[in-house]
Amino acid sequence: PEPGWTDTVDVVVIGSGIAGLTAALKARELGTVLVVTKDVVASGSTQWAQGGIAAALSPEDSPEDHLQDTLVAGAGLCDPDAVRALVTEGPDAVRDLIELGARFDTLANGEISLTREGGHHRNRIAHSGGDATGAEIERALVAAVKRAPDIRLIEHALVIDLLRAEDGAIAGVTLHVMGEGQLDGIGAIRSRAVILASGGLGQLYAATTNPSVSTGDGMALALRAGAKVRDLEFVQFHPTVLWLGKSAKGQQPLVSEAVRGEGAFLVDHEGKRFMQGQHELADLAPRDIVAKAIMREMLAAGKDHVYLDARHFGDEKWRVRFPTILASCRSHGIDPVRELIPVAPACHYSSGGVWTDLNGQTSVPGLYACGEVACTGVHGANRLASNSLLEGLVFAHRIAVHLAKGLPELREPAVDTRIPGLVDADVVPELQRVMTVGAGVIRSASGLAEAGGALAKLIEQPAGEPGTPGWEATNLVTVASALIAAGTVREESRGSHWREDHPDRDDQQWSGNLDLTLLADGE
Ligand code: SIN
Repeated sequence: PEPGWTDTVDVVVIGSGIAGLTAALKARELGTVLVVTKDVVASGSTQWAQGGIAAALSPEDSPEDHLQDTLVAGAGLCDPDAVRALVTEGPDAVRDLIELGARFDTLANGEISLTREGGHHRNRIAHSGGDATGAEIERALVAAVKRAPDIRLIEHALVIDLLRAEDGAIAGVTLHVMGEGQLDGIGAIRSRAVILASGGLGQLYAATTNPSVSTGDGMALALRAGAKVRDLEFVQFHPTVLWLGKSAKGQQPLVSEAVRGEGAFLVDHEGKRFMQGQHELADLAPRDIVAKAIMREMLAAGKDHVYLDARHFGDEKWRVRFPTILASCRSHGIDPVRELIPVAPACHYSSGGVWTDLNGQTSVPGLYACGEVACTGVHGANRLASNSLLEGLVFAHRIAVHLAKGLPELREPAVDTRIPGLVDADVVPELQRVMTVGAGVIRSASGLAEAGGALAKLIEQPAGEPGTPGWEATNLVTVASALIAAGTVREESRGSHWREDHPDRDDQQWSGNLDLTLLADGE
């Protein structure tokens, strides 16, 4: 459809989680900023984050120790310079957030209370409301954005595609606004820069911790604009979501790693612990190791879940420290004070994404990315727990610092990157099933080929209607195809990419990152 209206701003931010709102707050001094978000402002993944935000805030910790843990979890594929930026700028980024109004849990002496999660050798996870850290951070950021009248916010607006100038640089976005305000229907926003902060792709899979808005939109937009996408095969499966039965679909309740950080442990169906002896950190090993151990246990026992034992916390600790998880277990008829919690892995986080340099610049001039949609190099093959909120903060800030050196010029849109054909939204449940079976926790050449074949068949079906469901389905298919391609090429097992036909890590052949680019016209 042709744009019905045009508007102009200096910077468009796509997404309203920790990365997008931080970028908007930092960029507002540089010019006019517009935040575009697909649902209401707090609907993304940030508000669901439980465990917390990692930073070397304790005198017993150091950025160097945080760097080491991050590199080990990343299994050889992190960019050490990006990790160094993350861990050294992290503590100040958290203090900035406190300055802005975010409240973290404190000890009796007023210091921030720090816990531990998988892969961390120190207590460095700041948390809020016990296990409601993301909700508090999002609350503080939304309040700060509302206090900044110069930041424009459009909710219920899906970015359809990126506009580019003759030379390929960013010229703005096309947008579908579903509101009743001034900007209704399809329109174009011209801008000097676009910051992608649209989150992840959890809806590619049948079971995920991600909310329904996580449909890989930013990655699909970037791919269609010819941007380089990196490490897409590294999809992280959180080891422990509450197991709700075989047919559970969509967003699943998370049982934070912080529960294990505070002393809970995994047991099999006989009540036997199985993480001891598998890794020096046992139940607190990096999450790919724990997720694989759980999958092996489940496969060997022919079961679809294992259990987490945290009965020894007692009522008081459960109520104070993990109120969200306690309520969610009880609402599903499980009392973790008296019973084992049934848990299983589910899709949680995309460690890869749109490649950026240390300033958050993508390979398309004028296009920036931060947060889960980006691949800044800090996560490598497997993100360390609670590094994601931190990455959103640090790299959003870096983008603003870079833009402050000079905003790109406003360009005339010339290159048409509009979606070539729409996918029928009805294919999504089958796409999720196919991805879960063939490109999920355990992969193989034949499984990935079957998934690719099934995906191709799905999109032979009649084209979808313009509108959010059709555009989201199209984005899911674009990202699924790229992910299957990346997973097929990497013939080894590393981090969260587990190929049962190539079970070992192969540093001879596969010590580098995998980049993908599609042609700009969507071919
Ligand atoms: C959790 O609380 O276990 C999730 C933390 C994260 O994904 O970083």
